Amino acid sequence: MTGNFWQKLKKKNKPILALAPMAGVTDSAFRQICKYYGADVVYTEMISADGLYYDSHKTLGLLKFKKSEQPVVIQLFGKNPSAFVKAAKICEDVGFAGIDINFGCPAKKVVASGGGVTLMRDLDKCRQIIEAVLAGTKLPISIKVRASIKKEGSDERISALDFIRYIKDLPVSAVMVHGRPHENPFGAAIDYEMIKNIKQEFAGVVLANGGITKPEEAKIMIDKTQADGLGLARGLYGRPWLFKQVKDYLKIGKYKEFKPSDIKKAMIKHARMSFEAKGDYGLIELRKHLLWYVAGWSEAKKLRSELVRVKTLSDIKKILKSTA
Ligand SMILES: Cc1cc2nc3c(=O)[nH]c(=O)nc-3n(C[C@H](O)[C@H](O)[C@H](O)COP(=O)(O)O)c2cc1C
Repeated sequence: MTGNFWQKLKKKNKPILALAPMAGVTDSAFRQICKYYGADVVYTEMISADGLYYDSHKTLGLLKFKKSEQPVVIQLFGKNPSAFVKAAKICEDVGFAGIDINFGCPAKKVVASGGGVTLMRDLDKCRQIIEAVLAGTKLPISIKVRASIKKEGSDERISALDFIRYIKDLPVSAVMVHGRPHENPFGAAIDYEMIKNIKQEFAGVVLANGGITKPEEAKIMIDKTQADGLGLARGLYGRPWLFKQVKDYLKIGKYKEFKPSDIKKAMIKHARMSFEAKGDYGLIELRKHLLWYVAGWSEAKKLRSELVRVKTLSDIKKILKSTA
């Protein structure tokens, strides 16, 4: 991909709908199905910059994607600027459209290594990391941050707005703001005001993220924050067509509910993509998605006990055929 795709998306797609990064979820097959249902840009799961630095075979294996997924943004995490320089160069060579830096993840393994959200406590280090990625690549750079985090040993907070003010002279193309604080990563109310303030100060694309599970919530997020776009995450579990529903709702004020027959078709499509991407192992990894797809169905309990054991595409087809 050439040029800054963020600028192109900003002109063309109002709002921009992004698949937010989710470790263990946003693999190639899930990115493909989200793209199919209308995602404008998709993020990979977070990838270790150190892993790329040391040429870890496993890390490089996570980098595969199909052309149809583009624009694909690879998300990197870590804390060593020198690793980020080399990692950025590798990402460019592999053909990603952009590179995102994770400054928002609360996962234990990331935080324990000094990366993710705790980096927000050291804005100098964050700046160095962004500069390292900028030095390593010509690709557009984006960042993902949280609404705020407590300073160590104090009740004072560092906010996403403090962060943006500290780096806004750098050529960062986009920011995705998860509008909840570090201390309550999934339960807190969304800080719409924080995202709105960032939109007023930051020249690049602003994507608002957090708590969007239906089109009406997407509209509230856009209305309250004036963001350029949205990052969708858990709302897509078993419902990648949420992208299409959000687009329709924002354009024409209504959207179509997916019936079980539509959902079955989506499941088979997703399963084909998983198999093509990773063979039999892709279908094992798909199992959690299959369970999400049937959540709320009257036969969900029975289906779950069967879907959790599928090994082949025909297993999936047989199970789905047996249900109304
Ligand atoms: C299973 C899971 C994995 C996640 N992995 C990442 C990640 O790799 N990088 C990241 O920046 N955020 C990650 N997140 C956070 C999401 O991108 C998103 O910010 C968060 O889920 C809030 O959005 P939601 O309320 O729409 O789910 C993850 C979230 C979940 C649930």
